[in-house]
Amino acid sequence: MRISIVGTGYVGLVSGVCLASVGHDVICIDKREDIVNKINSSVSPIYEPKLEEMLNVVIKEKKLSASADISWAMKNSEITIIAVGTPYKDGAIDLSYIKECAREIGVELAAKNEYHVICVKSTVVPGTTDTVVRAVIEEASNKKAGSFGLAMNPEFLREGCAVDDFILPDRIVIGAYDERSFEAMASLYEIFDAPIIKTNLRTAEMIKYTSNAFLANLISFANDISNICESIGGIDAMDVFSGLILDKRIAVSVEGKTIYPGLTQYLKPGCGFGGSCFPKDVKALMSHSINHFYYPKTLDAILSINELQPKKMIEKLEGLIGEIRGKKIAVLGVAFKPDTDDIREASAIKIIKILLEKGAKVFACDPKALANTAKEIENEMLFLSEDYRDALSDAEGALLVTSWQSFMDIKPSEFIQLMKTPAVVDGRRVYDRKVMLEAGLQYTGIGIKYQ
Ligand code: UGA
Repeated sequence: MRISIVGTGYVGLVSGVCLASVGHDVICIDKREDIVNKINSSVSPIYEPKLEEMLNVVIKEKKLSASADISWAMKNSEITIIAVGTPYKDGAIDLSYIKECAREIGVELAAKNEYHVICVKSTVVPGTTDTVVRAVIEEASNKKAGSFGLAMNPEFLREGCAVDDFILPDRIVIGAYDERSFEAMASLYEIFDAPIIKTNLRTAEMIKYTSNAFLANLISFANDISNICESIGGIDAMDVFSGLILDKRIAVSVEGKTIYPGLTQYLKPGCGFGGSCFPKDVKALMSHSINHFYYPKTLDAILSINELQPKKMIEKLEGLIGEIRGKKIAVLGVAFKPDTDDIREASAIKIIKILLEKGAKVFACDPKALANTAKEIENEMLFLSEDYRDALSDAEGALLVTSWQSFMDIKPSEFIQLMKTPAVVDGRRVYDRKVMLEAGLQYTGIGIKYQ
């Protein structure tokens, strides 16, 4: 099929490249000429594993091209996917990019005689496609939905493994205005081996928010339990979760082997979730719900627990080394999770800001996210390095914030050799407590309180 995709962020570009790689003809649309040129030269404007290699192939095979010209792109496609950003601003989701894009699509639609489907892939609060997007397109095109198709098809891509998540989806949710819109979208995904959930537009939107709120809830639940364990003392929250997840309604035994479902990865004490999705989506669903006169108590708790966790890292560091002022502190990891350069809402950014306020000399280290960090925080007491050895050398405390493999591989002896005071706070529980303590390190982490 011939597809155009508006927006070349990680959702739009990953979707475009993956749809082209399974045989569709894709045009990626972006207003920024520099981004269009990069894509046409097989350079990915974002870092995402496997993406650039695949982009290279689909550009060579002429299955994908980029353009700033939405008019041309719509004339040469039968489905247009909206994948522009929906930031959270002033207490609500900001739909300005969506509206602008819907208006431009509507204008082009007016001049098109053939049937065309518009599909919203951006995360939008329930009711948006059905009301705002439909109304803007209908007004700009002077056509009624039905004469054009309308669908909502949320994405479930995790940064860092977005390509695999797209190619091997667990489910494909298609919210459709009518049967014809659904059929067109179902043909687009025919080649994928996954169940298709056929539903209405607002249910599709709600499935997306519920999925993210559920995962964020697991993290905050784990952190809440972990904070209770710390208050009581003498309980390692990791041991508690190891006990919990063996419940046969969670883990399953297959041929004598215990298989843990993916969601158990979220049941782990830590310094909090970040990224472009969980914080924004939980906040947006919460304010949308309040606008509909229901106060969502669980969502409120998810967010307030998440605010606590970065602060706990600082308290724990002070517990180990006392006063922070004037000391060199290493922050291992800035990206909101490994395998990405994304620092949006990252716990590390909150932690670095507190450390700087407290007068520390902060050495932050990350394999991919330093350029973004430099743009986010300008401070003469913040030093950036890709090599963890620079960060640890002569440091009087280290905070593990992002579980990059290179940090997980650091041996206790290396911490001891490099650091002035080998004191480590583990925000992702990646090190073995016993091994660290036996090696002579001062070690603690989220979910641990023994004295
Ligand atoms: C998330 C969802 O997992 C995707 O299904 C969804 O499509 C995507 O949002 C989206 O809405 O676009 P992503 O934000 O890439 O994907 O990252 P996750 O791997 O789910 O991690 C989110 C955050 O939770 C990270 O900050 C991670 O460090 C944190 N996390 C994860 C924890 O704090 N504790 C854990 O145990 C696991």
